[in-house]
Amino acid sequence: MKRMLSGIKPTGQLHLGNYIGALKHFVEYQDEYEMLAFIANLHCITMPQDPSELQKNLTDCVALYLACGLDPNKATIFLQTDVKSHAQLGYIMCCHTYLGELNRMTQFKDKMAKNETNLTGGLYTYPSLMAADILIYDADYVPVGEDQKQHVELTRDLAERFNHKYGDLFKVPEPLVSKVGARIMSLSDPSKKMSKSDDSDKGCIYLLDDLKVARKKVMSAVTDSLANVKYDVVNQPGISNLMQIYSSLSNDLPFEEIEKEFAGKGYGEFKKAVADKVCETLEIIQNRYKEIIDSNIIETTLQQGAKKASEIADKKLDDVQKALGMEII
Ligand code: AMP
Ligand code: TRP
Repeated sequence: MKRMLSGIKPTGQLHLGNYIGALKHFVEYQDEYEMLAFIANLHCITMPQDPSELQKNLTDCVALYLACGLDPNKATIFLQTDVKSHAQLGYIMCCHTYLGELNRMTQFKDKMAKNETNLTGGLYTYPSLMAADILIYDADYVPVGEDQKQHVELTRDLAERFNHKYGDLFKVPEPLVSKVGARIMSLSDPSKKMSKSDDSDKGCIYLLDDLKVARKKVMSAVTDSLANVKYDVVNQPGISNLMQIYSSLSNDLPFEEIEKEFAGKGYGEFKKAVADKVCETLEIIQNRYKEIIDSNIIETTLQQGAKKASEIADKKLDDVQKALGMEII
C-alpha cells in the first residue's frame, strides 16, 4: 500500500480553504492509502503564538480532523512534537539545505516583502523541517494546497541529494495538488488566499463558524458587475472562487454544469446555493465535533498515533545517522 502524509498548522481555527484544499482529500484517501496525518505544532511556532490559544487550537484541530471524517482506525493521527525524531531529522535536513534554496521559498519571500518585523530563524528554515516530516516516513504522496507545492519540491531535491551522497536513504515523494480548490481565495478580497491570518474575518469561513455567520459571509462575498455565473479567474475572480467552493462541495461538479444550472439567474440565487452547500457541510462537521470534544477519543487517538508514527520515524532517523557516520556502531 502506498503511503501518504500531510500536516496542518494549528494556528488559529481551521477554515474552509484547509478543508477543501487539504483535509477533504486526506479523508478521501484514507481507504486507498496508508495515511499519516499530523498536527504541525512545531511549524506553528515559527510565528508568535499565544500559549493558551494555541493549546485550545491543538485540541480543536484534532477534533476537526476526526469530525471531517478521518478515522483513527484507518489513518495514523498524531502531534508532531509527540514524535521527537521530526525535530532531529529537521536539523540534519537544515544542514543540507542551501541558503539559496531557502531564499527562493515564496512564503518566506512574501513575508519579507511585506516588511514584517521580527521574522525568526525558525520561519526561515521551516522548509527543511517540512522535508524531514515527509522523508522520515518514506511517504509516496503528499496531498497539499497549492501554496505548499514548492516546499514538497524542495523535499524532493533534498531526498535526491541525500540518496546521491549517502546511498538510497529516502523515497522521493510526490506532491498531490487537486485541480479544483487547491487555492480557495478570500471572500472579501479574491486576489488573496483564504487564510487564518486574514486581516478581517469576513473573507474566511471557519469550520466552527456559526452557520448564520458563515451564510452571511458567502452572501456578502465580493463579486463583479458582469451578472453572469462563469468560470473566468482573470475577469471574474470572486465568482470563480465561489464556483470552486460549490464544485468541491458537490463531488467536484464540473464548472460547465454549474454555468448551465445558473444561466440567466442572478448572483443572489447562486450565492444562496453556495451558502446552502457550505452550511450543509459545516453542520455535519460541527455536529460530529460536538460529540468528539466531549469524549476521550482525542487522547486515545493521539496516543495510538504517536506510538505508530514513532516506530517508523525513529528507525529512519537511526538509519540516517548511521549513513552519515554520526553513530558509534
Ligand atoms: P496551513 O493552514 O497553512 O497549515 O495549511 C494546511 C493545508 O491547507 C495545506 O495543505 C495548505 O496548502 C492548505 N490550504 C491552506 N489555505 C488554503 C486555501 N486558501 N485554499 C486551499 N488550500 C489551502
Ligand atoms: N507547511 C504546511 C502548511 O503550512 C504544514 C506542514 C508541515 C506539512 N509539515 C508538512 C504539510 C509535511 C505536508 C507535509 O500548510
